[in-house]
Amino acid sequence: MTSQLQAQVKNESATDAKIAALIKELTLEEKIGLLHANGIFSTAGVDRLGIPGLMTDDGPLGVREDVKEGWGSANLTTDSATFFPNGSALAATWNPELAYRYGHDMGEEARARKKYIMLAPAFNIARTPLCGRTYEYYSEDPFLNSRLAVQSVKGIQSQHIAACVKHFAVNNQEVERNRVSVNVDERALREIYLPAFKASITEGNAWTIMSAYNKFRDVYCSENNYLLNKVLRGEWKFKGMVISDWGGTHSTVNAANNGLDLEMGSRPPYNTYYFADKLLDSVKAGKVSMQVIDDKVRHVLWVMYHTSLSDNPPPGKINTPEHRKTVYDIAAESIVLLKNDAHLLPLKTSSIKTIAVIGDNATRTFHLGGFGAGVKAKYEVTALAGLQDRLGKTVIIKYAQGYSGAFRPSRTNANPETKPDSAMTAQAVSMAKSADVAILFIGGNREYESEGRDRKDLSLPFSEQALVDAVTAVNQNTIIVVVGGAPYDIGKIKTNNSTIIWSWYNGSENGNALADVLIGKINPSGKLPFTFPAELKDSPAHALNAYPGENLKVDYKEGILVGYRWYDTKKIEPLYCFGYGLSYSDYKISDLQTVKKTFSSNENITVTLNVKNIGKYPGKETVQLYISKTGSKVERAEKELKAFKKIMISPGVTAKVSLTVPVKDLAYYDERTGKWIVEPGEYKVLAGTSSRDIRETVNLKVN
Ligand code: BGC
Repeated sequence: MTSQLQAQVKNESATDAKIAALIKELTLEEKIGLLHANGIFSTAGVDRLGIPGLMTDDGPLGVREDVKEGWGSANLTTDSATFFPNGSALAATWNPELAYRYGHDMGEEARARKKYIMLAPAFNIARTPLCGRTYEYYSEDPFLNSRLAVQSVKGIQSQHIAACVKHFAVNNQEVERNRVSVNVDERALREIYLPAFKASITEGNAWTIMSAYNKFRDVYCSENNYLLNKVLRGEWKFKGMVISDWGGTHSTVNAANNGLDLEMGSRPPYNTYYFADKLLDSVKAGKVSMQVIDDKVRHVLWVMYHTSLSDNPPPGKINTPEHRKTVYDIAAESIVLLKNDAHLLPLKTSSIKTIAVIGDNATRTFHLGGFGAGVKAKYEVTALAGLQDRLGKTVIIKYAQGYSGAFRPSRTNANPETKPDSAMTAQAVSMAKSADVAILFIGGNREYESEGRDRKDLSLPFSEQALVDAVTAVNQNTIIVVVGGAPYDIGKIKTNNSTIIWSWYNGSENGNALADVLIGKINPSGKLPFTFPAELKDSPAHALNAYPGENLKVDYKEGILVGYRWYDTKKIEPLYCFGYGLSYSDYKISDLQTVKKTFSSNENITVTLNVKNIGKYPGKETVQLYISKTGSKVERAEKELKAFKKIMISPGVTAKVSLTVPVKDLAYYDERTGKWIVEPGEYKVLAGTSSRDIRETVNLKVN
């Protein structure tokens, strides 16, 4: 054992002893007090024993603003923080190191704000592009999800702040999320929906997890014995605390006996909660044992000893230069160049006199909005401000709003007004006409993409297509920047426009990073973390009429064929494929080799290849390694992502890249035996720059 590990083990056993002693001291009433909310984000402590209350806080975008009872802003001046890029932006970086820095810096801010459990990261699989929380989540691929989740968790927890990975499990739509029951076959559950949760527990060592709102196989996730006791505690050996989603607890005895530790919610009176007086009564009536209560208290205290009561906690910090650099780096690496056919980008600034910046999204901020976690950002640089900062001294920048993105959703109106505003359009058109270049910002916003509801379709909101058509008609040098956290139908733009950039709800440094991509100070390197369907009906859940379910039941009929696994296997051409993203340079992949040709099931496959930057600009390319099983006995996706690496390469330089895939990662989940099985035989290793741009292939054999 290394000395560090020895110290940890010693600490863990000392902690266990302290916890056991406290459990002996606590009265039943005090124990119950530790197991339910006493405020929107808090629980009560036990003063006489020096046990503090818990403070949890959202969430993926940074440490949220403080709220008062009823969710209104607490109107404080001390609750601002750094706004971090949204989940799918982070995923588009394909850079686990940035996920670590995201977690680390957010953890530091949580500590400064005295919030000891961050309700993040969130990484439910993007099963349907319509899911309102796609922007909060990462991707459609379990491997990409896992690599990012593990590093986010490690980063947060490096600050002695618990990560709370969410939402466990199969919470893939917002429609009827509080009532719908998800039925998914065991193989898809294990291969697609659980891997990132498993990795964040077994590799990332996440200290807390949030049970999802929905039911899984007819049983609420917050009282799901299979998910919480069998899989999480039994198989993954989870030692931490299971927290309910807010208001997502539905029983006392079932939830208590089936694995929930802490009931959270935001509506007083808190003594009426399932885990308050009713739990006390149930223990007294012998329906919940003292052992079960003590286990829960142990989980709660264990988390406290790693967080609010930890030894030598790091100092908290808010919005340091390092944090600002992290959000800038994530934003810069997340932006995806979708099309650059006319080589308008990077902007030839020396020959440009006037730029027309058009669109509501050029001046809109994204840190707050909609229904869901927001951050009261210390600052947020809009796209227009970023461009003005970078170019304002040398270029005349004019701005026209073009459309209004103002939108107040309601239960009956999930889609915004679609009539173009003729005055705004006319102003935009006349400005575009007289400019050398028009940069048109469209897409969604934080009101339109939201927790609590899904989008009705993929169409661009706010009559944006009409504006794109009108502006493009008068200025061929139009650059379209789409801002969004989920796929949209940009098929017409792909056909008609030469230049398309995809950007996100990209944090405090949004405008600076975007401007630097446009002027070429940053070479774009983002890759799509999900497929953009050509039409909604092509995407698996919709093709099979398996969304949003009937009679409050949704059957994941596509099984393992989620995302690109579906499009590739069924030979359906997407609008933009998973892993897609261009650069101002081109890269040549060559010499793909495996160290040997035949592997046994306990070995690692080491793959080497060369990547040459054959363009003019230094840049980052992400090599994506997919594996395909030829002649499988069972249903298989055409290919599956098994490794990736992002590397910086200077022009003319060839980088040697080495990637490792454990043979055990080639396994499929066998429902009959409940085991992971590595099929012997031939496999293909595919290396590319997207899921559909495979440049080299080699075969190997597994014994
Ligand atoms: C969301 C969670 C969030 C919680 C507290 C719920 O509505 O589903 O993700 O952490 O609210 O804000």
